[in-house]
Amino acid sequence: MSIKKQKIKVWDFPTRFFHWAMVCLLGGLWWTADIGEMQWHQVCAYVLMTLIAFRLVWGIVGSETSQFKNFIVLPKQVINYAFKKQKPHSIGHNPLGGYMVIVLLGLLVTQLVSGLFATDGIFTEGPLSSLVSSDTADWLTWLHKTNFNIIQAMVVVHVLAVLVHMVKGENLLKAMFSGYKYVSSGITAPKLRSPLLALAIILVIFTFVWIALLEPVVSFL
Ligand code: HEM
Ligand code: HEM
Repeated sequence: MSIKKQKIKVWDFPTRFFHWAMVCLLGGLWWTADIGEMQWHQVCAYVLMTLIAFRLVWGIVGSETSQFKNFIVLPKQVINYAFKKQKPHSIGHNPLGGYMVIVLLGLLVTQLVSGLFATDGIFTEGPLSSLVSSDTADWLTWLHKTNFNIIQAMVVVHVLAVLVHMVKGENLLKAMFSGYKYVSSGITAPKLRSPLLALAIILVIFTFVWIALLEPVVSFL
């Protein structure tokens, strides 16, 4: 018996934009550090900071599928999900994927905060580096470098997980681009918030980041 499918929108534009802009900015951050363009490194970092701060707020006030409370479940449910042979397709993040999101966001916040205190000892130092002792700044610089290796490892796991789902017939990647998924008929589409609300949140955060961090760097470019 064939199960009737319907197409519903599961990811709003702001969440999709956040994801792919973050991927591009991370590439830019790696590249600018690699070639020593540290002013551009900071510009990319502060734009990413705006987006991450937006995603944290969107995790509270945003669309149903983007809200943390809707995809962070009890560890027991994650274990049940992990051991299920026939895993049900989720509308948003699945129980395991939800924790992956939190780990990735946590690692990115750590990277941004450690960067603010990091120093290369010659030309570039994060804006808060002078507030701590040189030992602490060195430790945070070490953290900044080590944490990036952890981010890379977790991104590999993340992409592999997406590929495994694809092999098993669930195309999560297409949904992260288009916003749509095919689900069994009868499932109600999640409530999505207006992109204008997202834009307003981003503009407010960007204004603070611009005044406190970005403007001084851009004026030196
Ligand atoms: C470069 C580093 C990457 C990071 C830091 C990252 C991080 C994340 C985060 C935080 C989410 C949750 C989105 C949200 O709820 O706001 C997510 C979801 C997702 N990412 Fe990535 N991602 C990266 C690269 C990629 C790449 C290269 C792919 C392509 C294979 C990909 C495919 C996806 C998909 C399909 C989802 C949705 C998963 C689901 O349906 O639960 N990501 N990613
Ligand atoms: C998520 C955001 C960020 C990522 C992914 C990132 C990534 C990196 C990478 C890959 C390196 C090179 C590490 C190495 O040489 O092994 C680096 C170095 C550095 N980053 Fe970031 N960074 C971020 C945010 C920031 C921020 C916000 C600042 C400060 C404004 C900053 C300041 C620095 C400095 C000063 C170095 C040089 C450290 C040294 O050479 O000893 N970074 N970053």
